[in-house]
Amino acid sequence: MRINIITIFPHLFDRVLDFGMIQQARKKELLEIRIVDLRDFTEDKRRTVDDRPYGGGDGMVLKPEPIFLAVEKLSEKAIDRQHVVLLTPQGRLFDQAAANRLSLKANVTLICGRYEGVDQRVTDHLVDEEISIGDYVLSGGEYAALVIVDAVSRLIPGVVAKGGSVLQESFMDGMLDYPHYTRPPEFRGWQVPDVLLSGDHVEIARWRERRALELTRQRRPDLLNQGKNAENPE
Ligand code: 6GU
Repeated sequence: MRINIITIFPHLFDRVLDFGMIQQARKKELLEIRIVDLRDFTEDKRRTVDDRPYGGGDGMVLKPEPIFLAVEKLSEKAIDRQHVVLLTPQGRLFDQAAANRLSLKANVTLICGRYEGVDQRVTDHLVDEEISIGDYVLSGGEYAALVIVDAVSRLIPGVVAKGGSVLQESFMDGMLDYPHYTRPPEFRGWQVPDVLLSGDHVEIARWRERRALELTRQRRPDLLNQGKNAENPE
């Protein structure tokens, strides 16, 4: 899989993609990440990427020309068609189903929105979909791109050394995870629950399921009402 990231802050990505699972995926050549500096596609001396909004108002808007040129340049060399994503708070909410869907694409381009907006012609004529990572405002799409790269790369077959299907059927099978413990069995007087030391795998499975259900009811009851967490119909 190839992921292109178009940004005005290319150096923000200098080291962050060189660790852990993402690094492993890149080393194994299961994942190729290309960081594209939007300013390389400007044609003026000042390398201008933004301008004042028509109709007035605060803030600046990312201009369409450099974004179109950057995407078109990526298309020239690409074998696989790019799936072009604009990262913006106006996008559809990113969830496990969206991560699954993106992980099946060969070539994904993430455009990091910035400032107060992006010229609407980018959305209308260049982008396949707009994605947001949550109901809060970030100063730009860069961190959203990192979130998506992380969630997607662990789904690429061969990246997580487990064997079997890596596609997550849903967000944690529709539930939050149960509590985990490791050694020592007693730490500062706090005991690991007896059942986990019992060796009774049926009882352990029951305990975990019960705890997961309790936690989900308390904290995320919305997850229990989503059935099997089908992909949102487009
Ligand atoms: Cl993708 N971009 C920005 N600027 N803010 C966000 C976001 C994206 N997702 C949540 N908030």
